[in-house]
Amino acid sequence: MVPSDRAYQKCINPSCGAEFDCAQVLFKCPRCGDPLDVRYNWDKIKLPQKLGDFAKRWVTRGSQLDFSGVWRFRELLDFCDDRYKVSVGEGQTLLQQNGALAKELGMNPASLFLQYEGLNPSGSFKDNGMTAAFSHAKMVGAVASACASTGNTSASMALYAHSCGLKATVFIGEGKIAFGKLSQSMDYGAHTIRVAGDFDDCMRQVQDVCTELNIYLVNSLNPFRLEGQKTIMLRIIEALGWQVPDWIIVPGGNLGNSSSFGKVFAELKEIGLIDRVPRLAVINAHGANTLTELVNDKGLKWNGGKVNDTIADDYFAHLDATGYRPDTIASAIEISRPVNLKKCLRALEVCNGVVLDVTDEEILDAKAQVGKYGLGCEPASAATIAGLKYLLANGTVDKDARVACILTGHLLKDPNATVNYHSKMAREFSNPPVQVENDLQKIIALMK
Ligand code: F0G
Repeated sequence: MVPSDRAYQKCINPSCGAEFDCAQVLFKCPRCGDPLDVRYNWDKIKLPQKLGDFAKRWVTRGSQLDFSGVWRFRELLDFCDDRYKVSVGEGQTLLQQNGALAKELGMNPASLFLQYEGLNPSGSFKDNGMTAAFSHAKMVGAVASACASTGNTSASMALYAHSCGLKATVFIGEGKIAFGKLSQSMDYGAHTIRVAGDFDDCMRQVQDVCTELNIYLVNSLNPFRLEGQKTIMLRIIEALGWQVPDWIIVPGGNLGNSSSFGKVFAELKEIGLIDRVPRLAVINAHGANTLTELVNDKGLKWNGGKVNDTIADDYFAHLDATGYRPDTIASAIEISRPVNLKKCLRALEVCNGVVLDVTDEEILDAKAQVGKYGLGCEPASAATIAGLKYLLANGTVDKDARVACILTGHLLKDPNATVNYHSKMAREFSNPPVQVENDLQKIIALMK
């Protein structure tokens, strides 16, 4: 394979800055251990004059790459030739303006937008990333793929691996995994390995397994995967008539999404396709709030690339020493050692971002509100609305600001959480089924 003159990999640590060809399969910088970015030689890429020029591909959506909500923006992630690109129709998602929910939250009804990533083929935002990761996997000739997962990564990986002929192995922990997600990876034919540990343990194991057995890792440590996730922001801008919103609100788990969002806004600004970046809010579950504690309580920041590693090292040593295990109903984000921590810190700097955490009850209430007024989502996704309530209450987000909340996963991923909330929890938005005898008059009486 001829090395691309358009893209390369680069260590995110400015004091290292080591560069590597895109043909190399790396999960972190071999020199200093920090994460890697995919970078572009923009002057070698035929960029559009303005973002709106991408709209011309709606006309040619009969072609697979133009149909894809990821690859129709391909000049902005130009790391491989079209012949390697893999697509299963990802990114046909919806930005819904939701006036009813906005009103309920005390916002201007025109200003709240819900980005439904659950509409992707495997039911979560992960497909945006997998299409890019598997395209890179094809480009480097990989034959087997693996990931650690709280469920959605594995479902998406299994779907893409199956569709392009790679083997797939999924590592899941003993913690919660929503049945919708587990059923997908089994049905899509992935080899599923349950490790006696949690997600963070699986994440550590899978990196060693992949190195030892030369397997292609598709977790968000993989910089190519994050390139695909950038397009979630492009589709929001597209749906807003090529305008940038004021706020992006996203749940934080392994912090891949938030990292990729910060990256694309920095890139778009650099190449002059936008003139301002939105602000970013990353919402943790309280029972898995590493980012919140590190940023808000311990003052950890990107600091132009001079991250104070001791703060994070001490924090993780304390988690080890106390045997801490994350615990939240939002199982997708039940993660205490986010692999993209540094990239997320950078995104927070780029987007003047904020971080906060919300309780499981707040997540479930917000989830029921999304379900009542929108198309529904899984618990982790609803952390965005729960977080937005705080940001409105403390004046960080103005009621007239244009806010896009990323609903990362489909309602049907975790039916147990939904049924339990409605039938057992007796919360404000619980909507339990009502029992009645098999008797017409009694049924009619109930309906009056
Ligand atoms: N929302 C959903 C529905 C997820 O599945 C995940 C991550 C996140 C949010 C967090 O996103 O890692 O980019 O901060 N799920 C991973 C998995 C960890 O294995 O499916 P992030």
